[in-house]
Amino acid sequence: MAEAVKVVDDVTFEDLLANPYPVFKRVRDLGPVVKVEAANIMMVTRFDDIMAIERDPETFSSVNPQSLLNTVIGPNLMRKDGADHARERAAIDPSLRPGVVKRCWAEPMQAICADVISRIEHKGEAELFEDLAAPIAARALCDILGIDGVDWPTMVLWSQSLIDGSGNYSHNPEIARKAKEAARGVESAVNRMLPHHRDNPNASMLSSMLQAGQTTEQIYANIKVAIGGGLNEPRDSILTLILGLLQNPDQLARIRAEPSLWGQAFEEAVRWISPIGMYPRRLTRDVEISGTLVREGEQVGLCVGAANHDDRRFSDPEKFDVFREKKSHLAFGAGSHFCAGTWVSRALVSQIAVPMVFERLRNLRLKAPELVRVRGWVFRGPTHMPVVWDA
Ligand code: HEM
Repeated sequence: MAEAVKVVDDVTFEDLLANPYPVFKRVRDLGPVVKVEAANIMMVTRFDDIMAIERDPETFSSVNPQSLLNTVIGPNLMRKDGADHARERAAIDPSLRPGVVKRCWAEPMQAICADVISRIEHKGEAELFEDLAAPIAARALCDILGIDGVDWPTMVLWSQSLIDGSGNYSHNPEIARKAKEAARGVESAVNRMLPHHRDNPNASMLSSMLQAGQTTEQIYANIKVAIGGGLNEPRDSILTLILGLLQNPDQLARIRAEPSLWGQAFEEAVRWISPIGMYPRRLTRDVEISGTLVREGEQVGLCVGAANHDDRRFSDPEKFDVFREKKSHLAFGAGSHFCAGTWVSRALVSQIAVPMVFERLRNLRLKAPELVRVRGWVFRGPTHMPVVWDA
């Protein structure tokens, strides 16, 4: 007989925001699908269950008529399945493939990182969220999207406003207003750039969508997806990788002696603190997930952050260990919606930004470990990281 979904009702939303990993562990040990009242979601937290779900998109659909994401940014590729999704995905992929990243984006990303670092290099101290990671991630994204003339704080504001609007289940009017304003800002930037990309086909995402014959509505929506989903994560993973290495100087020393290890270090950082902790799927029929019955129409939260700490797969999962046994993780998701920005993020964070930080900020160290703040559960990363170095 199938088991019913268990319920956890003594965890607060603040517990999740402060540190979801103890909650994830408890939920993972309790059952394959557990309703967590504070988040109002049924969590799937085990690695193998999420992999199995992602192999069956007909049962576990990305389409959701109630999705606030669609309301806020318009019908977009993240909430589509099958051929509808594949067409829109094929329209953006040409600007994000590994070869294109190498040929077209590596050099501008290198120049952005060099510029951002040169502004702080002489100071001997900085707060790395605001002074380093946010400007690098936002400016790199502008180049890749093909948007000029928008400064990085505006990109950060748009990204956060769209994310907040997509999670605004309490219908807070101020959050809704800001999300609308951000959506209008993105649309007017797109309108301003379209003639240039029409006349000068290039590798940017905007140009790629035009070349694929996407409608203006599709372009608006998927550029908003990329702004909402392509800024925080590289920003947060830059900071997470730096944090992991500053807390583990022996690992840093080995990587600096053998730079081919930077890629491995990045994968460990996003496993350790996954920038996206959870994303949803909706059931198209009644189904058992490892013996627990979930009904048609229900939504489950695939907690990839939890799966990346599943001790059935990763030993000592709470530990940052670049040299752990090599195994794939779920930080970029899996299946047809696997992150489109994976290769650009790998290049930006592990080949360019973080190696340059350790190269140019000599003897980099945390100003005081207790000043570091890490927060969030659906999106998680360091939010405050003061450091010092020998200027
Ligand atoms: C460390 C960096 C990143 C992480 C950890 C990350 C994580 C993810 C995850 C987990 C998903 C799957 C969501 C789902 O299935 O519902 C996703 C999808 C996506 N990501 Fe990323 N992301 C990162 C960077 C980026 C960047 C830089 C871009 C854009 C330049 C980007 C664009 C996208 C897009 C467009 C999708 C939707 C793909 C689809 O639905 O087919 N991501 N990302």
